[in-house]
Amino acid sequence: MQNDVAEWEARYASHEDGLFSGNVNGPLPVEVSGLAPGRALDVGCGEGADAIWLAGNGWETTGLDVSTVALERAAAAAEAAGVQVTWVAAGVAEAFGTFDLVAAHYPAIKRSAGEPELAALLRLVAVGGTLLVVGHGPPNPEFARSRGFDPADYLLPDTLAPHLGPDWEIVVHEQRPRVRPTPAGSPWTHDDVLRARRLT
Ligand SMILES: C[S@@+](CC[C@H](N)C(=O)[O-])C[C@H]1O[C@@H](n2cnc3c(N)ncnc32)[C@H](O)[C@@H]1O
Repeated sequence: MQNDVAEWEARYASHEDGLFSGNVNGPLPVEVSGLAPGRALDVGCGEGADAIWLAGNGWETTGLDVSTVALERAAAAAEAAGVQVTWVAAGVAEAFGTFDLVAAHYPAIKRSAGEPELAALLRLVAVGGTLLVVGHGPPNPEFARSRGFDPADYLLPDTLAPHLGPDWEIVVHEQRPRVRPTPAGSPWTHDDVLRARRLT
């Protein structure tokens, strides 16, 4: 985990003008617009665009990330946008509370022995609440490995879905073309979207 944190800090620090676009991820408005706003947690919020969008759309929002560099940028962007977001520097396994929406877009959350990250992601969703996890598609493990990671090591829709037992209703689990195209050279033309509701 410490290595991951250092890697993310270095990655954000090496992109002084921002690692990501600052735009809300396409699937978030699509999946969330029909839900009544409540308490939302954006897991792996990065530079905060999704959390800021949620706060601007009536959600009482917390953004959680392991990178303090990213969170400083997120806080500045929220201030510029005139919205209130609570920023928490921690890994998902250390997060607490329950939320009506737990969202994670391209989360890069590494699994570890005993799956504390998976358990946390599920317990953070309040009864009646929604879990929304979005990854890249279509699956291309060879390309991922060429970039230095194995998708099976991460919490992604396909690794999560089998763990959603009778306490959960899977509302959406599908791949669809990205709203905004990925950078040239990326084979990930689609989003892998998992939206589930906690029943009990
Ligand atoms: C690919 S970025 C996506 C950022 C943001 N969701 C977006 O779409 O712009 C993945 C983010 O997950 C964060 N991250 C990695 N491991 C984490 C963990 N265990 N808990 C919380 N955040 C984590 C990284 O610091 C990084 O900001």
